[in-house]
Amino acid sequence: DKGGWSSFMAKEVSEEPDAVANTLRGRVRDGHVVIPELDGMDELFTNVSRIIVIACGTAAYAGLVGKYALEQWTRIPVDVELAHEFRYRDPVLDPGTLVVSISQSGETMDTLMAVKYARERGAKTLSICNTQGATIPRESDAIVYTHAGPEVAVASTKAFVAQITALYLLGLHIARVRGWARSGTEESMQVLELEAIPGKIARILEREQERIEQLAHWMADTRSVLFLGRHVGYPIALEGALKLKELAYIHAEGFAAGELKHGPIALIEPGQPVFVIVPSPRASADMHKKVVSSIQEIRARGARVIAIAEEGDVAVLPFADEVLRIPLAEPLFEPLLAVVPLHIFAMALATAKGLDVDQPRNLAKSVTVE
Ligand code: F6R
Repeated sequence: DKGGWSSFMAKEVSEEPDAVANTLRGRVRDGHVVIPELDGMDELFTNVSRIIVIACGTAAYAGLVGKYALEQWTRIPVDVELAHEFRYRDPVLDPGTLVVSISQSGETMDTLMAVKYARERGAKTLSICNTQGATIPRESDAIVYTHAGPEVAVASTKAFVAQITALYLLGLHIARVRGWARSGTEESMQVLELEAIPGKIARILEREQERIEQLAHWMADTRSVLFLGRHVGYPIALEGALKLKELAYIHAEGFAAGELKHGPIALIEPGQPVFVIVPSPRASADMHKKVVSSIQEIRARGARVIAIAEEGDVAVLPFADEVLRIPLAEPLFEPLLAVVPLHIFAMALATAKGLDVDQPRNLAKSVTVE
C-alpha cells in the first residue's frame, strides 16, 4: 500500500529518517552501542585482522561508505568488493578474515555465492540484511538486521541509509570490543551523531524536496549527468549516478573529485550538469578547498554546477548554479545526508520524464540469478 504517495519509491524516500531510527532502536544505551545479536563474538572481533565487505550495487556503495568509518574506529584494514568479482579471483582468506555481506533482499545470488565461498575457505561471515530469515543471513555466522521496513520499489533508497547505519553500529561495537584508544566519551559522541541523523534527513526532505523537483523538471531533457565527490562523498557520487541510470535511463557517472584532472574533465562541455558533493570545511579545510577549486575548474569550462553543501558554507556560492543544503554533521555522517537530495533528484527526473519509478525497465527487485 502506497499510503497516499504517488509511488512506493516516494513513500520509501520519505521513510529514510525512520529507516535510520529503527535500525538504531534498542541498539544504543547510555551513549554505548549494544548489539545483542553479536554476544559471544568478542573473541572473533578481537582477533580479526582484516574485514572484506561484499555486496552488489547500492549495497556495495553502502559498504564503501562504511569502510571509512570502520577503518577509522577499529583500525582493522577493510576492503570492499563486488560479490561477483570477489569469488573469481582466488582471494586470500583465513580464519582472521571477517567477511561482511550487505544485502537488502538477502537473496542476491551473486552475494550469496560469495558468502558461501568465503565460508568454505575458512573465513567468518557476518550478514547485514533487511529481510528477516532470508537466505544470506541463514548462510552466515552472524546477522545484524537493518530495520528499514519492507522496500518495494526496485531502486534501493531507505535500505541504503539503514545499511550505513548498521555498518556504523558494527564499527563502534568492534572498536569498543578491541579496546581501541577511543575513550567512552568518543563512542558516545558518535552515537549522538547517529541519533541526530533522522531529524536531519527529515529537515532535508522538508526544505529541499520542492526545489529539487523543480530542478529535475528543468533538466528533463538532459542526456548526461556527472557526479563528483571526495572521501565519503565519493561513494555517494557513485550512488547518485546509479540511481539516475536505473530510474531515468540517462547516462550518469560518478567520479572521485580528485580524479577529475586525470581524465574525466575532458567530458566537460558547456551546459554539462555536474552534481558536486562538497565536504564540510570543518572536516578538512584543505579537502574543502580542493573540491571548491574543482568546481571552479569545471565551471570555467561551462559546466552547470549543482553543489550539495552544508548549511552556512558560503565558499561555493560564487561558483555553483544551484546549492542544495544539508544540515551540519560530523564528516563521517555526511553521506547519510548528502545522499537524500540525490535520491529525490533521480526519482523526480524519472517522474518528469513520465517513467515508472517503482518498476524501471529490465530490472528486478532481487536478482536471484548469477
Ligand atoms: C540499486 C539497487 C541494486 C541493489 C543490488 C543489491 O538501486 O537496487 O543495485 O542494491 O541489486 O541488492 P540486495 O541489496 O538485495 O542484495
